[in-house]
Amino acid sequence: MTTSASTDQRPLTQRLKEDNADIHQQAEQDRVPQAMVGGTITREAMVELLGQLWVVNRALDEALVAARATTPAIDALVKDHQLQEANLRADLAHYGVADPASIETCDAARAFVDDVEACREREPLRLLGLHYVREGANNGNKYIAMRLRKTWGVEGADGFRHLDPYGERQRQLWEAWKSELGEYDFSEGEKATILAGARAMFEHIIAVNRSVNLA
Ligand code: HEM
Repeated sequence: MTTSASTDQRPLTQRLKEDNADIHQQAEQDRVPQAMVGGTITREAMVELLGQLWVVNRALDEALVAARATTPAIDALVKDHQLQEANLRADLAHYGVADPASIETCDAARAFVDDVEACREREPLRLLGLHYVREGANNGNKYIAMRLRKTWGVEGADGFRHLDPYGERQRQLWEAWKSELGEYDFSEGEKATILAGARAMFEHIIAVNRSVNLA
């Protein structure tokens, strides 16, 4: 039996996970995450990726902070410690990029920024779907950071603040936040908006990853 948005009884968090299992697998198996897990990514490619992610996350952070004033769910659920621009700026500084504003934005990051701007104007709650994916991605990113540290023979937070923002608190923070998201009282229409935003975020991140030159 198929379920439609109006009759789907599964909790939002279950739908977010189950309905995106296919695209999660696609994102995880793509060549950039795999090059990071396998330790073959060069520092140049890593810096290129972090630069585009800075563009993406700066736009998302700014939009979410602005949306707190108009959208109670975003005010309640988006925490300051989840914002990522400062982490990426610190990582880039660590790898020698002092001025991220000088980064040339790739087409995929530009499309992301355009999507965020459209959300700001027309559908701020969709930003929460984008945010859910970047917060959830910390689960795999922590593993990537662990593998990269090992391959590069380094330790500590420097250069890994974006990939591993919470350290030992990762699992605890993710589970607590996911529960909060699941307990929030969204209408069916609002759930559909968040689900659409999440799917779009996977697509955006896959496109940004594919923009990176691994050679
Ligand atoms: C090598 C790359 C990756 C690995 C190994 C990986 C692994 C994982 C793991 C182990 C979880 C936790 C599952 C659980 O405890 O329930 C997870 C969750 C998640 N990952 Fe990934 N991941 C990777 C890449 C990505 C990417 C690129 C994205 C986004 C574009 C992403 C988005 C998510 C999201 C949103 C969740 C939360 C799912 C939920 O709702 O529970 N992951 N990932």
